[in-house]
Amino acid sequence: MTNSPTILVFDSGLGGLTVLREVVAARPDAHFTYVADDAFFPYGHHSEDEIIARVVPLMGELIGTHDPDLVVIACNTASTLVLSRLRAAYSVPFVGTVPAIKPACARSKTRRISVLGTKGTVKREYTKALIRDFALGCEVTLVGSPELASLAERELSGQAISDRDVLAELTPCFVGDAADSTSRTDTVVLACTHYPLLLDRLVRLAPWPVEWIDPAPAIARRVSDLLGPHIDGVAQSSAEMIFTSNRAHGLGAILTPFFGGRALA
Ligand code: DGL
Repeated sequence: MTNSPTILVFDSGLGGLTVLREVVAARPDAHFTYVADDAFFPYGHHSEDEIIARVVPLMGELIGTHDPDLVVIACNTASTLVLSRLRAAYSVPFVGTVPAIKPACARSKTRRISVLGTKGTVKREYTKALIRDFALGCEVTLVGSPELASLAERELSGQAISDRDVLAELTPCFVGDAADSTSRTDTVVLACTHYPLLLDRLVRLAPWPVEWIDPAPAIARRVSDLLGPHIDGVAQSSAEMIFTSNRAHGLGAILTPFFGGRALA
């Protein structure tokens, strides 16, 4: 590979930008195509069959159009369901985003963690298998949030969202006696790429301090390892943002920092 590699980052909406920004920082030599399947957002409200029928053929079209060297599925709701199908159908390497249960359980001191994801992600057999294989005796509380991804989209788009609505989604993650820091939940896995967009608010509203696990830096390291050595001499490469709805989003200035300041085509 002598030209700038193309990395396609895919999510149902704007959440995958939290993964993109880490990958951009790790691979400034790459060209980035971000695809938000907003025409089908939110994935968390769709059945497994609907998501499979949507994402597998759509990915074939995107690979045909953009010819990426690597695809990041920056969506837990999709990755926990379609990753194996995508790998079977297409030869391009895929990196997925799945709940970071293993590192969370390894780090928890109270042996009590929560996994905050969409209703789809917490129901998946894939997620249950991660708990069976990697919980290491920790108590794992699965919290399926119906609205947090939509709230994150609204906030990033500059609309007001209320603390009360965010807290309603967050509260079930906090298990145990608030007064006993040796046994209450001490770690929350952000198992939806939208949620780090709200991290400041999550930290402020949490009933007690916890460690928030965002897998994006680990995903970026994996992407960089798969791509191999950096390409020398690439002036800052270009980037494009695609919404499957073709809507006029008017988010240019908001999106640019996630792309490391690149102007968006
Ligand atoms: N960002 C997605 C995830 O990581 C899901 C949001 C949605 O479409 O429901 O799960």
